[in-house]
Amino acid sequence: MKAEILSQLSAACPWKDTLQLYDTVDSTNDLAKMLARTGAPQGTVLIADCQTGGRGRMGRQFVSQAGMGVYMSVILRPGCSPAQLMHLTCAVGTAMCDAVEDVTGLRPGIKWINDLVLDGRKVGGILTELSVDTATNLVDWAVVGIGINCLQNSSNFPESLHKIAGSLAMAAGKPVDRAALSAAMIQALWKLSSRLLTEKAILLDRYRKDCITLGKAITVHTAQGAYPAVARDVDADGSLVVTLPDGSIRTVSSGEVSIRSERGYI
Ligand code: BTN
Repeated sequence: MKAEILSQLSAACPWKDTLQLYDTVDSTNDLAKMLARTGAPQGTVLIADCQTGGRGRMGRQFVSQAGMGVYMSVILRPGCSPAQLMHLTCAVGTAMCDAVEDVTGLRPGIKWINDLVLDGRKVGGILTELSVDTATNLVDWAVVGIGINCLQNSSNFPESLHKIAGSLAMAAGKPVDRAALSAAMIQALWKLSSRLLTEKAILLDRYRKDCITLGKAITVHTAQGAYPAVARDVDADGSLVVTLPDGSIRTVSSGEVSIRSERGYI
């Protein structure tokens, strides 16, 4: 698979030289964080065929069966403060929509903040993790982890995910080439890395177009409880701006939202 991916990357992409493929790992994010701590450079890309401990946001499991999806982590060293990187997950989300669209012709929507959705089912997710140098308050490294379900059908997912999870093959009605998707994801992330800090407003505008949560009646789930709201906007930090039933405005930067009165998980 490595040769197939390399053959589909542009000659100019320097991330070719640091691409690492694994059969089975616990989590590519955990491995990438370990490599980042020991000095691995920006653009180190790890891809695993299978993860035994794939992780999502909010401590959730990300089911990562062998040969079924693309499970990838990339090390970034943007050299900025964490405040300048609040839009990272959103920007990666849109870049991943570009990659999926390039390969399948289908553009996923994004359920705020990090879920890729096709036909009302989650087909992928993004998990970003950062380390900040406390002496300089600069980001030492960011690890961007992306999992995209490619070849599964419903029966490949655990019973509890049957109505929630989907794959690109389920949406496209035909198999999807994982090497081609991996290459498209790397290209999209490489392109994004050079714009991340200079084109923030453009990236967020693109995210707003992809975000299927906007304009919807939602339930916001927080550690303190759940409340109804309407999703109005995504702000310059990638936070969700909502209005409450009494008309007041609230900004949601963490936690989970679900879209009311739609089927499945969204
Ligand atoms: C989510 O659904 O909340 C995010 C899922 C992110 C999954 C990817 S797969 C590659 C990388 N390694 C992990 O353990 N998680 C991310």
